[in-house]
Amino acid sequence: MGLAIEGVGVTAGGRTILQNVTARIAPGTLVAVIGPNGAGKSTLVKAMSGERRPAVGRVRLHGDDVSALAPAELAMQRAVLPQATSIAFPFTVFEIVGLGLRQRAGVDAAMRRLEVRRALAAVDLEGFGERLYQRLSGGEQQRVQLARVLCQIGKPVADDRAKLLILDEPTSSLDVRHQIAVLSIARRFADEGGLAVAVLHDLNLAVGFSDRLMVLEGGRLVADGKPEELLEGPMLAETFGTRMVVIKPPGWARPAVLPDLPRLDPQPR
Ligand SMILES: Nc1ncnc2c1ncn2[C@@H]1O[C@H](COP(=O)(O)OP(=O)(O)OP(=O)(O)O)[C@@H](O)[C@H]1O
Ligand SMILES: [Mg+2]
Repeated sequence: MGLAIEGVGVTAGGRTILQNVTARIAPGTLVAVIGPNGAGKSTLVKAMSGERRPAVGRVRLHGDDVSALAPAELAMQRAVLPQATSIAFPFTVFEIVGLGLRQRAGVDAAMRRLEVRRALAAVDLEGFGERLYQRLSGGEQQRVQLARVLCQIGKPVADDRAKLLILDEPTSSLDVRHQIAVLSIARRFADEGGLAVAVLHDLNLAVGFSDRLMVLEGGRLVADGKPEELLEGPMLAETFGTRMVVIKPPGWARPAVLPDLPRLDPQPR
């Protein structure tokens, strides 16, 4: 049971963009997918969600091939926050978050209002329901999209099956307090028995919140393990091509990662 990624390879435009990725993710786990731009992170999570059918291999959720599941079935078992979302129409926040409930059977108007209100509260956007999405700030828009995804997924476990929550760079537009709040939502989803996968560029959030890091580079899974173990070796510095130090401030629950910044010498005039 859980999510099984079995020898997945993806090609696009005649190029191999993901190669031979194999991993298993158990319910109750939050995995952070990290790696440089273009490494294949979004492609991997699209394969996990069933949005992109692999050229070779397959992804199974509790035994079922995700690219063979009917869209309505898939929508009940997993929800995805994409890296970018464009909305071309003047929808209100309420309407967008409510889209997440479309596939759920038996949701009447009163329940719909309640669920949307709850999801907006979870992302710290109480009272935003009547606002026009397009007029919100970038970070507010990102949190509205997360609320939509939370409405869609509902509880982390249903009928004894863990649901899959996939977040592709969910914190890219957020201030630090909201970054922590959003990762805490993913953490709680996993702690309550769900399967959570987050693509992250912030190594501190990845290390601080996840049970496990999957590191992609050039379309390959180059490391997969506990954050503390991966921090010890040179692997992260090599993957990102930058020196970094790991610090463990007294009293902090998790280590922090700092990249080495270039010296800013005064420019000669
Ligand atoms: N449909 C496509 N056609 C051609 N190339 C593609 C396609 N989709 C992705 N790629 C290429 O595959 C590689 C991996 O893309 P992907 O979006 O998975 O990267 P990523 O790790 O999510 O990067 P980022 O951190 O910038 O979001 C990139 O080089 C990208 O240009
Ligand atoms: Mg991406």
